[in-house]
Amino acid sequence: MAFFEARNIHKRFGSSVVLEKIDLDFEQGQISGIMGPNGAGKTTCFNVLTGRYAPNRGTMTFEGRDITGLSPQRIARMGISRSFQIMNLFDDSAVIENIMIALPEFRDMRSNMIRPVFRDKMLEAEAMEILSQVGLQDVAWEPSKSLSYGQRRALEIGVALAAKPRIVFLDEPTQGLGAEATRQLSTLIKQLRERYTIVLIEHDMRFLFELADKISVIHWGQVIAEGTPSELQSNSWVQRSALGEIA
Ligand SMILES: Nc1ncnc2c1ncn2[C@@H]1O[C@H](COP(=O)(O)OP(=O)(O)O)[C@@H](O)[C@H]1O
Ligand SMILES: [Mg+2]
Repeated sequence: MAFFEARNIHKRFGSSVVLEKIDLDFEQGQISGIMGPNGAGKTTCFNVLTGRYAPNRGTMTFEGRDITGLSPQRIARMGISRSFQIMNLFDDSAVIENIMIALPEFRDMRSNMIRPVFRDKMLEAEAMEILSQVGLQDVAWEPSKSLSYGQRRALEIGVALAAKPRIVFLDEPTQGLGAEATRQLSTLIKQLRERYTIVLIEHDMRFLFELADKISVIHWGQVIAEGTPSELQSNSWVQRSALGEIA
């Protein structure tokens, strides 16, 4: 059994079917990639896998435990974390504060109210450790709004990592990034692979093919192709979209 499994996932909104029948397996310690055209249902798939929407049919298991239909909070507490395609940061807060409020200890401390949370040295040290994992330790006390777009992406990943996830879902992390920031993000994700199991939705094929151990192509609400990057090079849909990307 895979670390994370989705079987026969079906999701519709009213009469509009977005996911017809999705089967996915993510293995521990790997980077799994998901690609597919715009509107194929990739983000919806993440929303189902991380509990935002319950599937209309199908099951999900994480480490052998059935998580189908659990709330996003319960799923998050089991060690499943995600980033969002639309960035979600507190701009007026310092970089490190965005991480601190995402730490599980923060919630626990806030409820006892004995000491001011942002002065807590242990929390700060832990947030600093996360920031160094995403290469932002030097800008920890800068306001988040002063970050470059690429640094914001890294911070968003840091926020997802603050939950100490066992698996982390990243939705199009290169969106809006230029070539240099994309290269830096690729280096960052290679480093994170040592510690985390990662699932990555990505439209930048070069980026995805370089990073992923296995890629699933979602189209028409189904997984139409799956394999290692080299196995997928010969897939006709992948070849057409690669040509489309260069054109
Ligand atoms: N909450 C929702 N209600 C209705 N339709 C939705 C909802 N979320 C997504 N969709 C529809 O699902 C389809 C797939 O969207 P999405 O999952 O964002 O695709 P992708 O991430 O692959 O570009 C789109 O047609 C979108 O309009
Ligand atoms: Mg999307």
